Amino acid sequence: MVTSRLPGFYKLTLEERRRIAAEALGVEVTELEAALASGGLPALRADKTIENVVGTYAMPFALTLNLQMNGRDYLAPMVVEEPSVVAAASNAAKIIREGGGFLAEADEPLMIAQIQLDGVPDAEAARAAIEGAQDELLRRADAAVPNLVARGGGARELEVRALGDGWLVTHVLVDCRDAMGANLVNTVAEALSDRVRELAGGRAGLRILSNLSDRRNVRVRCAVPASALAFDDYAGDHVRDLIVRASEFASRDPYRAATHNKGIMNGVDPVVIATGNDWRAVEAGAHAYAARNGSYEPLCTWRRGDDGALVGDMELPLALGTVGGTLRVHDGARFGLKVAGVESAQELAMLAACVGVASNLAALRALATDGIQRGHMALHARSVAIAAGARGEHVEAVAREIHEAGQVSVEAARAALQRRLGSSAGDARLVR
Ligand code: MEV
Repeated sequence: MVTSRLPGFYKLTLEERRRIAAEALGVEVTELEAALASGGLPALRADKTIENVVGTYAMPFALTLNLQMNGRDYLAPMVVEEPSVVAAASNAAKIIREGGGFLAEADEPLMIAQIQLDGVPDAEAARAAIEGAQDELLRRADAAVPNLVARGGGARELEVRALGDGWLVTHVLVDCRDAMGANLVNTVAEALSDRVRELAGGRAGLRILSNLSDRRNVRVRCAVPASALAFDDYAGDHVRDLIVRASEFASRDPYRAATHNKGIMNGVDPVVIATGNDWRAVEAGAHAYAARNGSYEPLCTWRRGDDGALVGDMELPLALGTVGGTLRVHDGARFGLKVAGVESAQELAMLAACVGVASNLAALRALATDGIQRGHMALHARSVAIAAGARGEHVEAVAREIHEAGQVSVEAARAALQRRLGSSAGDARLVR
């Protein structure tokens, strides 16, 4: 049983952290190191993955701590370059844990294949003809993806949508099981297009999945006791009310909603990337869903519950896979999936959504009180210290010094480093 509580993890050296992480995950340290060597993708393999390759590009791979979902602990993998995102999500997950963690659920993994027609002479007659042929069309769809059918998936349902002026779109809902499903769904769309045109008349158009995969949504809820939100001089009740107000701001203003949702995707995308999934698809789906009512809205909202707790609710489409795609070639992505410790694509989607809610809570708690710059600057100071040449124990010390002095710049970091090196007898090896 994995525990996601690893107190003091952030203070350890990289080597110690690898050892503790491997222990917590029940794997050998050598497995972790091998999976993440070369960022999980050696250049020669990358060369066989896409075109015109000249190298690879690495990002940090980290663990979100403290996360509990549906009564179980998870160490969520995150691949992200932005400082403070992992710390913020882990911190908020710890607060949410005090209210029993996240409750999450996922729809069946249904993807939508779109078959477009235009110039359809009689849209209602076409709809009747397509719906009347539903059994035949679903059989044809299944015949195009036999391996998916063997794994328990397949075509489930048709929907016909008239868009006006002779435009007609047929949706085929395909249960993709643990695959993200883009290839499967595109295969189905292409396999059915001619027959759908025969039935409906008109001209055949595009045959492709929809990234607004709103038949594959996940829902997450958490209820945080107000007392868990208190910090410094801020009382928990007060912080709760400020967060509710911040959430209302996002509901009233699309300019704020965009940033609010960016904060959610700060948590979702890193899990999506760490497990080899298509983050452009996830982003497209999330933002299209946020605009589904005609104005752009927050994906996660916060309210005061009857018992005074802060209640967060989020729903969004999340088309993720735990088989195929990047996982075939990327050792890091396979390791990310192992870290996530999920048994299905639905469970992975729920986990990514929980990290999204945690990120949103962390951002709102900071923004509604002290602002985010204080915390950001503390972490930013570390990158500045590294840019100034600090290594090892000097990174934290230099970062602390320039942050406390309110001078987070490379020049200030260089000066602080020189002073420290002077005091450690100028041992040049310390900056390597
Ligand atoms: C920064 O990456 C994300 C935030 O802007 C999110 C938000 O404003 O809610 C802090």
